[in-house]
Amino acid sequence: MDARQLKIEAAREALTHVADGMKLGIGTGSTAEEFVRLLAVKVGEGMTVIGVPTSERTARLCSELGVPLSTLDETPRLDLTIDGADEIDPALTLVKGGGGALLREKIVAAASARMIVIADASKLVDTLGRFPLPIEVNPFGLRATEIAINEAAARLGLDGPLTLRMTNGEPFVTDGGHFIIDASFGRIPDTRALSDALHAIPGVVEHGLFLELADAAIVADADGVRTVR
Ligand code: 5RP
Repeated sequence: MDARQLKIEAAREALTHVADGMKLGIGTGSTAEEFVRLLAVKVGEGMTVIGVPTSERTARLCSELGVPLSTLDETPRLDLTIDGADEIDPALTLVKGGGGALLREKIVAAASARMIVIADASKLVDTLGRFPLPIEVNPFGLRATEIAINEAAARLGLDGPLTLRMTNGEPFVTDGGHFIIDASFGRIPDTRALSDALHAIPGVVEHGLFLELADAAIVADADGVRTVR
């Protein structure tokens, strides 16, 4: 099975958790997009759901495929969010933000009664940190924020380059108008400590560590699909 097919299988399994009438948070990224495509088929067959997208990109795809959308202002409490991840550890702590949507993804996940992560098995890790940690920052005072991130990380024994995410020669700008710094700290043994330290920096808007938000991960590999709780 190729990588895309694994994503489709995980998304198909996630769809079995979606019931008629649900208010859904809809994630961002290639795996979440497979979920949107399958959900759109169900909507075409008469399933009634309302989706709150976690990015403009996801909103566009939902609109193209006819998945009805709402906003978090209109629909502030959601039943279930389905989203992808860049890394998943055994406690279901996640690294997210590879697609640059981590802020809205976290707000939507926090507004949901449940969050199910969908991924191919390559996203499972023993300890988070192989994938650079995306940190969403305010463009104002970027250099000062980078220094503060480095100092906070060093206090936790973490070290590694910070890279400003670029696209077409310009800083990548999130849907919220912020920049993304990708932090290559390597293994992150204490995710709570790093989360707290990053939240204490004024220029940090949010980071891609998702703690205690995911209820389950649906993971696909060549042997099939399994649910990790
Ligand atoms: C976007 C995300 C994505 O969910 C994450 O990057 C995984 O993407 P993909 O399914 O394409 O591997 O966090 O901000």
